[in-house]
Parts: sequence; C-alpha cells; structure tokens
Amino acid sequence: MECCSCNPFASSHLLLTESKSPKLPHSRRRFQGSQRASKVVAYYGLKTPPYKLDALEPYMSKRTLEMHWGEHHRGYVEGLNKHLEKSDVFYGYTMDELVKATYNNGNPLPEFNNAAQVWNHDFFWESMQPGGGDMPELGVLKQIEKDFGSFTNFREKFIEAALTLFGSGWVWLVLKREERRLEVVKTSNAINPLVWDDIPIVSLDMWEHAYYLDYKNDKAKYVNVFMNHLVSWNVAMSRMARAEAFVNLGEPNIPVA
Ligand SMILES: [Fe+2]
Repeated sequence: MECCSCNPFASSHLLLTESKSPKLPHSRRRFQGSQRASKVVAYYGLKTPPYKLDALEPYMSKRTLEMHWGEHHRGYVEGLNKHLEKSDVFYGYTMDELVKATYNNGNPLPEFNNAAQVWNHDFFWESMQPGGGDMPELGVLKQIEKDFGSFTNFREKFIEAALTLFGSGWVWLVLKREERRLEVVKTSNAINPLVWDDIPIVSLDMWEHAYYLDYKNDKAKYVNVFMNHLVSWNVAMSRMARAEAFVNLGEPNIPVA
C-alpha cells in the first residue's frame, strides 16, 4: 500500500529540539551540559487516507489523490511544522485545540491556515469511502429528515451551497450545538466549523485542486459524484453517534433513581 510507505507518522507527534547555545571554548563546554535547555515543540505528521490512493476510482483518480494528498496536504503539514518549530507555545495541543486556539477569536495567528487545512483534509479523506454515496440510514437519516424536511431537500441544499461558494473553501454538514439541529454551512479558504464550536459531520473540499484534474471546471459534476458515489454515510453515522454524547437531540431522558 503505497500511501503507508510515505507516512512516517500516523498521528501527531511531539519533537524535542535542542535549543541553540552559544559556542564556547572546548574546555568550558564540558561543564555546560546540565545548563543546556531543551525546547519541546509540537510536531504533526501527515495522516494517510483510510484507503488506497486508487480506491476511489473512477470517481476520484489516483492522480488527484497523489497530488491533493501527497503534495497539497503534505505541504500544509510541513508549513505548520515550520511555524511551530519557532516556539513551544502550542506544545501538547491536539489538532482540534490548535485550530481553535490559532483562530484566535477571528483574528487568526500565522499558524491558523496550515493548522486548519491539515485538520480539514484529514476530515475530508475520512468523509469519503470506496462504494460511498447513496443515502444514510437510521439516526442520521431521521435527523436529516427532521431538520431539512427530506433527504432530497438536504441534498439540494448541500449541492447549492457547493456551487454558490465564492472562491476556495469547504461545504459542511454540521450539528449546531446550541440549536441542536443539522445545518449545511460553507466556509472560505481554511476556516472550518470548529471555530464556531459546531460539530462537523461531513465535508466537501471545494478548492480547485480537489476536482480540476478529474472534472476541469465542471464543479456540478464533481459535487454530484461526491453525493452519489463518495460520501461516507457510515463515517457520518459514527460522527453523529459521538456528537450525541455532547448534544441531546431528543427530549432529555433523566434516569429515575
Ligand atoms: Fe484540498
């Protein structure tokens, strides 16, 4: 499986780097060992998609995955690590925490774009599966029908959001914590719904690099293929099940003591 050979790190890592100490004459340097401090900085690895790079063909080509994951996604990881090696301030942050902290309440820090794009791409690869598409079942379908009226309405809304997105960005099915309902939202550039504390369930990358090799400028074809053949409702169902630990979608059920 070629993607694994390119992936020295399956998840985020921490890296110890020796801080630079001034050059000292040899005789003095011998006594400096215990005084040389180590700086601990955050370091994140490139996660592989949960399938082979040719597994989504013919709907998303191996060539697209090689370029999109192997070059663009890798570039975001490398860019993020370059930023993080300058300081130990984000040591110990998970990717979710890093995205929220670097968004900095709408005044993004220099690390934000790369951090969010790493998170977005990890989430996007996992939002698809070979043999995906069609319709969700059980709880996700019930909630979609409750919040959008029907699956067809949801589908139309998602596609319309994708096709009306100006410039580069993302389309999401999210669970709104406060409103306790599903909604379709679109975000520009690297922004994702975590920064508003919403819970993403499905995402679609609407940057040109996601579809140009396979579909040129035919965005409508790309979006329809995603809905019909790629989106993973299995993963969406697991994400909804996890989200329901934090958002009560039914009436409160208080156990009798
Ligand atoms: Fe992308």
